[in-house]
Amino acid sequence: MHPAKAGMMIFMLFWMWVLFTHPQRDQQPPFPLNLFAQAKTEDFIGEKECASCHRAQVESFERSAHAAYVHSPRLPIDKRGCEACHGPGNIHLEDERNPAKVMSFKKAPSAAVATACLRCHAETMHMTQWKRTSHAQHGIACTSCHQIHRSAEQRLPIEPNRLTAFPATAASLSFEQYMLKGDPVSLCSQCHQKEAAEFRMNFHHPLPEGRMICSDCHEVHPDQASGKRSHPQKGSCATCHADAAGPFTFAHDPVVGGTGEECGECHRPHGSNNPRLLKTFSRGLCAQCHTDKASTHNPGQTCWTAGCHVAVHGSNTDPLLRTP
Ligand code: HEC
Ligand code: HEC
Ligand code: HEC
Ligand code: HEC
Ligand code: HEC
Ligand code: HEC
Ligand code: HEC
Ligand code: HEC
Ligand code: HEC
Repeated sequence: MHPAKAGMMIFMLFWMWVLFTHPQRDQQPPFPLNLFAQAKTEDFIGEKECASCHRAQVESFERSAHAAYVHSPRLPIDKRGCEACHGPGNIHLEDERNPAKVMSFKKAPSAAVATACLRCHAETMHMTQWKRTSHAQHGIACTSCHQIHRSAEQRLPIEPNRLTAFPATAASLSFEQYMLKGDPVSLCSQCHQKEAAEFRMNFHHPLPEGRMICSDCHEVHPDQASGKRSHPQKGSCATCHADAAGPFTFAHDPVVGGTGEECGECHRPHGSNNPRLLKTFSRGLCAQCHTDKASTHNPGQTCWTAGCHVAVHGSNTDPLLRTP
């Protein structure tokens, strides 16, 4: 036999030996999926059993929006009732106080929480997409924002803050539907106080007025389409400001992303003390890039209010952006 062939044979035999004698150790799926993987049909005991020891939680779950979804007898047994989230009852009852045998959303790390919720919510997002978010990377869990057990009359854990004058009807709708811990502005503001404060500036997107919410711009659950972005891009501004976004025959480079920050080159998205949410309301706004335009170039007002470059976003008629 040719020595190269013999070498190849030995190499292959070695790998076959490795594969047969060392079965993959990683076959256990991560907690809490391992509970479901090891369960037999009879390990699911149904929620009547749970009530004998956890009456309060059975009652609070009954009145939550989720109850209607997971009670259907048409669902497979492992996606029905309490056990759909907390895992098969029999395994839990083998050793009630063992945290490895029941899914506790309060005690489990945030990755396990996401794993439990995403067993069913694959249309909202996949685990790989969730893991890329800044929230997942900082240990924020689905249950930092969502509260699953809550009766209608229970107070929300996150009280409305001064920023929000959220219309009561809109708020209660989203609490109920999305099972959030607070109205969708106060919820985010409790952790993002710096950004929330920007909405108190003289000029701001109308969140305090209850006409918008943070997630109109920020994708909390990035899916395939929005990819890994949690920051909004031009496209998301364009959904509401098509006039500013174009397309134009003569596009202004920064508006179409030619310089990187798109709309953010000139605007502060949350709020600003300048009209039109501008970074500065002076020629300085334009001079940050057009350094070649000396101060003698039409001194006076701003480059756009002086009646010159009025089509700041782009023009269909004039490459110098002087007419729309
Ligand atoms: C015989 C009583 C009993 C039954 C039946 C029972 N549990 Fe438990 N469960 C316990 C005890 C005891 C604990 C441990 C509480 C502790 O450590 O504070 C516990 C803990 C839990 C926890 C974790 C709570 C925590 O704070 O860590 C969850 C979730 C849970 N049970 C859900 C269920 C579900 C769902 C069912 C029905 C499928 C169920 N239990 C049935 C007695 C029971
Ligand atoms: C859709 C998922 C889901 C279902 C279904 C569900 N729970 Fe929970 N459960 C949670 C979450 C999430 C928490 C953490 C607190 C919260 O968000 O309300 C929790 C909290 C608990 C706790 C307190 C210990 C802990 O995990 O923090 C117990 C006990 C419990 N649930 C029992 C039950 C019982 C009994 C049922 C059935 C009537 C049930 N759960 C149905 C998601 C669920
Ligand atoms: C057993 C499967 C299952 C699990 C596990 C589950 N859900 Fe759900 N959930 C559903 C179904 C079914 C709906 C109905 C709407 C739908 O089809 O998306 C729903 C609805 C929701 C809604 C409202 C969606 C809407 O459009 O109104 C939210 C929010 C939600 N779930 C969050 C969670 C969170 C957070 C967890 C983990 C604690 C979780 N779910 C675990 C099955 C599940
Ligand atoms: C930072 C807060 C936050 C976190 C963390 C979060 N959500 Fe949400 N979720 C929201 C808000 C706010 C809404 C309301 C709709 C919207 O604005 O996107 C929502 C809506 C939903 C909906 C219904 C609408 C939809 O997109 O299908 C589901 C299902 C859901 N969340 C599941 C989850 C799951 C599962 C996780 C964890 C993997 C999670 N959420 C983590 C804030 C959050
Ligand atoms: C429980 C606290 C908490 C809540 C509630 C919360 N966040 Fe966050 N968020 C964080 C942390 C921690 C980070 C990562 C560190 C940072 O950038 O501040 C983060 C990061 C972000 C980022 C990305 C910042 C970056 O640099 O990439 C955005 C955008 C964001 N959050 C928006 C929201 C929105 C919108 C909501 C409400 C739907 C929300 N957050 C609710 C804690 C929270
Ligand atoms: C009009 C769209 C819009 C709304 C509404 C909005 N944001 Fe933003 N947000 C942006 C844009 C664009 C950026 C990225 C540019 C920047 O960093 O200034 C951003 C950046 C952020 C960041 C990251 C800041 C950093 O230092 O990286 C956080 C956190 C954040 N927003 C939270 C919020 C919260 C909380 C709310 C609601 C109170 C909110 N946003 C509402 C558009 C918006
Ligand atoms: C969900 C819709 C929505 C999105 C997305 C959105 N905006 Fe707005 N924007 C508004 C509303 C509503 C106003 C207030 C207009 C009013 O009061 O008539 C506004 C006002 C503004 C203004 C001030 C306009 C004026 O006449 O003073 C600017 C500038 C602006 N937005 C830029 C942006 C940028 C940049 C983005 C992307 C980061 C963005 N917007 C995303 C809805 C949106
Ligand atoms: C080169 C700087 C610059 C960039 C980049 C820019 N804008 Fe503007 N924008 C301005 C100026 C200057 C005004 C004030 C114009 C006025 O008052 O007539 C303005 C005004 C606006 C207004 C108020 C109404 C209007 O159309 O005059 C909106 C809305 C707006 N911009 C949205 C956007 C959006 C969305 C983007 C990104 C697609 C963007 N802007 C990018 C400079 C810019
Ligand atoms: C973030 C950088 C940036 C800012 C801010 C900016 N521009 Fe521009 N602008 C450009 C670039 C890049 C071009 C493409 C031509 C070039 O290389 O100069 C351009 C092109 C132009 C043109 C077309 C004529 C030419 O030189 O090709 C005009 C007119 C113009 N800008 C006006 C303005 C005005 C008015 C403002 C302030 C409202 C402004 N620009 C702000 C980057 C910027």
